[in-house]
Amino acid sequence: MNNLTRILGITYPIIQGGMGNVSNAPLAAAVSNAGGLGMIGAGTMEPEQVEDMIVDTKKRTSLPFGVNIALSVNDHAAELLELVGKHQIKIVSLSAGNPAPHIPMLKGHHCTVMTVAGTVAQAVKAEKAGADIVIGEGYEAAGINSPVETTTMALIPQMCRAISIPVAAAGGIGDGRGLAAALALGAFGVQMGTRFIATKESGVHANYISAIISSRDDGTLISGRTVGKVRRVLPTPYIKNVLQTEEKGMTVNEYLDATSEFHHISGAMEGRLEEGFLNGGQISGLIEDIPSVEDLIKTMVAEAKIFLSSAQKKLPI
Ligand SMILES: Cc1cc2nc3c(=O)[nH]c(=O)nc-3n(C[C@H](O)[C@H](O)[C@H](O)COP(=O)(O)O)c2cc1C
Repeated sequence: MNNLTRILGITYPIIQGGMGNVSNAPLAAAVSNAGGLGMIGAGTMEPEQVEDMIVDTKKRTSLPFGVNIALSVNDHAAELLELVGKHQIKIVSLSAGNPAPHIPMLKGHHCTVMTVAGTVAQAVKAEKAGADIVIGEGYEAAGINSPVETTTMALIPQMCRAISIPVAAAGGIGDGRGLAAALALGAFGVQMGTRFIATKESGVHANYISAIISSRDDGTLISGRTVGKVRRVLPTPYIKNVLQTEEKGMTVNEYLDATSEFHHISGAMEGRLEEGFLNGGQISGLIEDIPSVEDLIKTMVAEAKIFLSSAQKKLPI
């Protein structure tokens, strides 16, 4: 038990990152049932769809789970926030926007609030605004990233020094070594996205999982840098075309159209790689199997315990 597991009411300090339109009820419930924290990713979904997912997740687990709302990504963010009271959601993760205006309402519903931050300044603001946990997300991560591009290794110890609420490290974590490293950097746990995509319970298209498993350490690309919208992806034919167009010059809106939810669903859920993109983190190169969520979490925890105890023995203190 540590402060993170205590606040969230979970057994192991492993959070499944909200993955918009991808992390659904079966995956979120499997993570919660395995002792971690499962999370529904509202992405760009309509409030009714998210509501169905919440109801479905509650049927599959009696353990805590959360809902991620990417504030600037979903046009119905205000309605999604209203679902918290209606369905008595106990844990909410806010990302892609300023969480501060929404925290008092969420606390009014006795909700635990996690915010995703890519810089120390964002983490400090979140703590001042009343957040309970900060997810420090480095540049290794899949999907939309901070344009500041700070890596997890550099970000986490600086963030942990600056705030007193628990930090969970995200970006580039995929096994027990990553979990142990995050704890050594001062985090109280980890949040993973890419690793959970390649599990038995994940609902993505098989082409997505194959792309992760066949990826190497240099296998991801950054799109959107020229318009200040950084997104880490796997190299599908579609996104390579977008990158070529970007090199010639693209407006923000053209880029956002090119990476709209239609293209996300085409790639991730339908496996149409000529038309769609796949969010993927740098840790893809480490992933070579498709375990069940339960096996993944058990193995990670066992590995981390071994690495941490052997590290302690080696330290000259
Ligand atoms: C398919 C996919 C969709 C994602 N969508 C969201 C999202 O809607 N909101 C969010 O805060 N993070 C999102 N993320 C980021 C994850 O929640 C997580 O923080 C990130 O994947 C961690 O880095 P990793 O991939 O190296 O494990 C997404 C990641 C993936 C792979």
